[in-house]
Amino acid sequence: MKQLSDEQLATFDTEYVTEALWTILTGHIDRTHPDGRFTFLDIGGGNGVFADRLLAAYPAAEGAVLDNSRLLLDRNKPSPRKTLIEESAENLEQLGGKYDLVFFNWVLHHLVGDGYGKSVRHVDQTLRKAAALLTPNGHISIFENMYNGLLVDNAPSHIIFNLTSAKAIAPIIRRLGANTARLGVCFQSKSRWQQILRDAGIGSVDYDEDSPWPVPLAWKTFLHVGNVRCGNFWGRPLASGQTASP
Ligand SMILES: C[S@@+](CC[C@H](N)C(=O)[O-])C[C@H]1O[C@@H](n2cnc3c(N)ncnc32)[C@H](O)[C@@H]1O
Repeated sequence: MKQLSDEQLATFDTEYVTEALWTILTGHIDRTHPDGRFTFLDIGGGNGVFADRLLAAYPAAEGAVLDNSRLLLDRNKPSPRKTLIEESAENLEQLGGKYDLVFFNWVLHHLVGDGYGKSVRHVDQTLRKAAALLTPNGHISIFENMYNGLLVDNAPSHIIFNLTSAKAIAPIIRRLGANTARLGVCFQSKSRWQQILRDAGIGSVDYDEDSPWPVPLAWKTFLHVGNVRCGNFWGRPLASGQTASP
């Protein structure tokens, strides 16, 4: 898997979970863990702000922040209920513990390799490894930005991946605002994410979303973007023999 540079990573020293998304998420957590007692793993949790927010809201919870960026891990506020793991998401099978909740907050689209197909396979493998880390009542939560196409549903995903991974035009793409220029970024449409989750054996998936963003004309024209919004998938691995709901 490719790794972002420190300069690219510095822009991720922030927190993306809005109040509306937090309400959606805590609704799921309160339903599945009404006593607030759970363990979690925040994959790509970076500076730990999301983990700190969870620990503050759920005083009986404890968790771990996993990230392959030392720079961002070093920005974590220490807590006796928080562990830091410097590791890449592709090596989840090397972790020892089990977790009630595994979070992927805006990280799956960064798990890119050489080529689009390989990038989607990285996501699939990572989801399967994360599922293996869950306790019996464990759940996976995913936040992503859904890039839904104007006419062709997942066309923006391919266009954005090709533009951001092209080395020859990387300086231009960077100047146009793509922090991931040269490395690539693999956003998906909502229905493609649903397909990816089904393929990785994650079922019973609830989906909720924030309000749509205003889409600039250039995104419509050049990236074929119809609408974009933040969405949350909340699911759990299917028992063998079960089939995923659509
Ligand atoms: C867009 S930021 C999201 C940060 C945080 N989850 C949030 O929502 O604020 C992406 C994060 O994923 C991390 N990341 C990217 N590739 C990774 C990988 N292969 N393994 C672990 N972390 C990764 C980055 O270091 C960064 O912290």
